[in-house]
Amino acid sequence: MCGDENPAPPALDGGGRGDLVVVANRLPVHRTDGGWETSPGGLVSGLLPLLQKRQGVWVGWGGGRASGEIAPFRHDGLWNVPVSLSADEVRDYYEGFANSTLWPLYHDACQQPQFHRQWWQPYVTVNERFAEVAAREAAPGASVLVQDYHLQLVPGMLRRMRPDLRIGFFLHIPFPPVELFSQLPWRQRILEGLLGADVVGFQTKQGAGNFIRLVNRYTPHRGASHSISVYGRRVEVREFPISIDYWKIDQLAADPATIERAREIRAELGPNRTIMLGVDRLDYTKGIDHRIRAFHEILAAGRHTVRDLVLVQVSVPSRDQVDEYIEIRERIETLVGHINGEFGEVGQVPVHYLPRSLPIEKLVAYYLAADLMLVTSLRDGMNLVAKEYCAARRDDTGVLVLSEFTGAAHELQRAVLVNPHDIDGMAVTIERAIAMPRDEQARRMRSLRQRVRKRTAYDWADEFIAVLAGPAHGSSAALAAGDAR
Ligand code: G6P
Repeated sequence: MCGDENPAPPALDGGGRGDLVVVANRLPVHRTDGGWETSPGGLVSGLLPLLQKRQGVWVGWGGGRASGEIAPFRHDGLWNVPVSLSADEVRDYYEGFANSTLWPLYHDACQQPQFHRQWWQPYVTVNERFAEVAAREAAPGASVLVQDYHLQLVPGMLRRMRPDLRIGFFLHIPFPPVELFSQLPWRQRILEGLLGADVVGFQTKQGAGNFIRLVNRYTPHRGASHSISVYGRRVEVREFPISIDYWKIDQLAADPATIERAREIRAELGPNRTIMLGVDRLDYTKGIDHRIRAFHEILAAGRHTVRDLVLVQVSVPSRDQVDEYIEIRERIETLVGHINGEFGEVGQVPVHYLPRSLPIEKLVAYYLAADLMLVTSLRDGMNLVAKEYCAARRDDTGVLVLSEFTGAAHELQRAVLVNPHDIDGMAVTIERAIAMPRDEQARRMRSLRQRVRKRTAYDWADEFIAVLAGPAHGSSAALAAGDAR
């Protein structure tokens, strides 16, 4: 799909054009040869209908370095307002502070977070730029939804620039416990930045609790259960677990073309083998190496061989300029080489490694073909792949093996839960999952599917917007959101 051609309209008097403004590090579109295309994901699916209905504007980085200014453009019924980043800002704000300081720190420091004062100022500067663009784009009294760890200072900055706005913030990744967050030299500034919002949302109750504890410890403000009082202003703090477009996955899984593609995948891999599947961004938080090592243990124990068991690992390259991502890629490729060398036979390898992104139609075919889905993150805000796998299993077969350390595990308790740090324990659990009788698979999968169906990405967006609108407007906002679909 190409962007619509319309030029940007002039800003409205006293404010911008947006009645609902999303501010995220990335735009909801990416460039293809044919122009801009809408990106997949729970955030975009959930918010799109609302943005299309209500004068929607999305402020975000268009990707790339040192690109000149790109003019706002309309695509898929909303205004995209690109924010550009210089090459130095990509290095210091995005790869540096966001992805080498905050990302590892917030993921239980499963890699050592790096604290460099020369990354902090670019983080402030870029947050200011996003806040200024949002302030310019928002109509009087508009709602602004700020997304994720890249932009934690934006709510505070925006409140100072535009006190008339309703400001929401949602963190997609885990919010760490007090002992970890306290390491951050800029901890108070980040907390104060977030407190600029009217609603601060997290994936889990734990995240919300951690935030309130930290505010009580490091700021003059006081909070309890669901709210914090900031100089008499109420900040609502709650969990809003994000989800997927359930019905889209369901529909794709019912499509004869997908079913045929899944049949081909099974035939190519060997019809009598148990197929295990991993689908992740290539990130050290995902425990891909732990998963492969558990698989190695299973084969080494000799109860299974390459003739009856195979792992398909789809790894979408990510942040490939950051050292830790280069290292994890090499580590995984080495592990795959070893296991395939040690246990492979002519025409059959234990691990099929696909280091690329696949379109959702193909992914759903893999979900249908896979007997087991392995989600073994060391830490994960939610993990939408786990939910997508359940949504695709329309016949209630298949087993979801899910790390205890994902946000999804709080909801999907009928999954087979594992501790990915315990490699031999994980190997034993995976073997049990392989042997799980069909009726137990069905009981678990039915309940998992029900759970995912009950709260889709649309419900997430409706709920957030309703809470942001406040008690007086909550129900009508939810209603309007319902209309939008
Ligand atoms: C995580 C973050 C998102 C981010 C995505 C992809 O899901 O929560 O904010 O967009 O990873 O990472 P990238 O660095 O490519 O934007």
